[in-house]
Amino acid sequence: MSVRVEPPAGGLRGTAAVPGDKSIAHRALLLGALAEGPTTITGLPEGADVRSTLGAVRALGAEVVRDGTVARVTGAGAALGRPEPVAIDCGNSGTTMRLVAGLAAGGPGPVTLDGDTSLRRRPMERVAEPLRRMGARVETTGGHAPLRVAPGRPLTGTEVVLPVASAQVKSAVLLAGLRARGTTRVTEPLASRDHTERLLVHLGATLARDGTSVTIAGGQRLHGAPISVPGDLSSAAFLIVAALLVPGSELRLRDVGINPTRTGALSILRRMGAAIAVEAGREAAGEPRADLVVRAGPLRGTAITPAEVPAAVDELPVLAVAAALAEGPTTLAGAEELRIKESDRLAALGQLALLGAQVEVRADGFLIHGSGGRRLRGGRIDPRGDHRIAMAFAVAGLAAAEGVEVADPGCVDVSFPGFFVRLAEVGARVTGDGWGA
Ligand code: S3P
Repeated sequence: MSVRVEPPAGGLRGTAAVPGDKSIAHRALLLGALAEGPTTITGLPEGADVRSTLGAVRALGAEVVRDGTVARVTGAGAALGRPEPVAIDCGNSGTTMRLVAGLAAGGPGPVTLDGDTSLRRRPMERVAEPLRRMGARVETTGGHAPLRVAPGRPLTGTEVVLPVASAQVKSAVLLAGLRARGTTRVTEPLASRDHTERLLVHLGATLARDGTSVTIAGGQRLHGAPISVPGDLSSAAFLIVAALLVPGSELRLRDVGINPTRTGALSILRRMGAAIAVEAGREAAGEPRADLVVRAGPLRGTAITPAEVPAAVDELPVLAVAAALAEGPTTLAGAEELRIKESDRLAALGQLALLGAQVEVRADGFLIHGSGGRRLRGGRIDPRGDHRIAMAFAVAGLAAAEGVEVADPGCVDVSFPGFFVRLAEVGARVTGDGWGA
């Protein structure tokens, strides 16, 4: 199965909704399960990753009734978990595996976490090590999944300094810290996304934040509350770059999360000359959100620095596509984490060369000499099972003379089911099979 995306005759136009924020949705389910009383989540995305977390929460004993994008969670409170062994399939989702490891560390019984071949390749010692220091028994399989977590009774609050910025590892430590005796403090080299912190506060916890450190006292109780999940900026980013690259485009993306720890790509694109307006801003469940209005226009190359990586980490593949069409060079440095995402994303982006782009993949980033708006040539791309690589190259197809054929496009379902349909609805030329039209 494959999908071909070609440049449309006119611009991309209209209003589009994007799926709910995947990062916030995982946390809403997990914290709702750990809370006392009911939590109603609205705007829950339908992608496979969030289904993995939903399955995990049920396996641990919370009741979840789901009806499309609404889920009602009846929390089990601090006692969440089962005394008998529980096995959880995390599918493709690193966030599920790492956050549930933190939750299981403070629970009543042993939990085994496994996933697909991509997830089994990803590093798990980074989460196992701090949880062990808090008193949990965590075994990895040569540093990878399957992961066995046997809770320590009780966990002990600890000072944890992370060698790399990672919201997943930080969140795992905070979840374990919530059920530990004493105080836990976690410090990162750069600030990663703070959805866990915001949601903990929304559900009644107290925590202290100081620079890139977060401190949480153990033994606090969470109280269920309504959680409205905004649209996912990481999904919106594909439509944003699509609108920027197709002349004559103007797209409005409704109710997208604009948490400052996530909006690095918007800052980078604006520096490249992009016209992106933020309208109708508001806040709900501790998270800012707004409509984004994007107009096509020429882009110029830029230098993306290591300090900018955490707030743009999942958008870097589509930023590479923007760079390939910009005027002049774009460099990315300090992004070695991309090598251990759902695929080696730096290596996968090397396929831009198949489309005639001038790309040099480096150990921790890339150098791309943009075409200055001249169309790329067509080609066939293997997304290597990685949703964000598939969507990034689909966007490249909108600016490639003969279009781009994306093999195995079904992997987009992990975060953005209906992506190709949404693209076609705003005016893109999408053909082929297996994309839901
Ligand atoms: C995520 C954190 C990031 C990000 C991932 C989602 C999260 O990973 O790349 O897609 O929801 O916490 P790291 O924590 O590994 O940086």
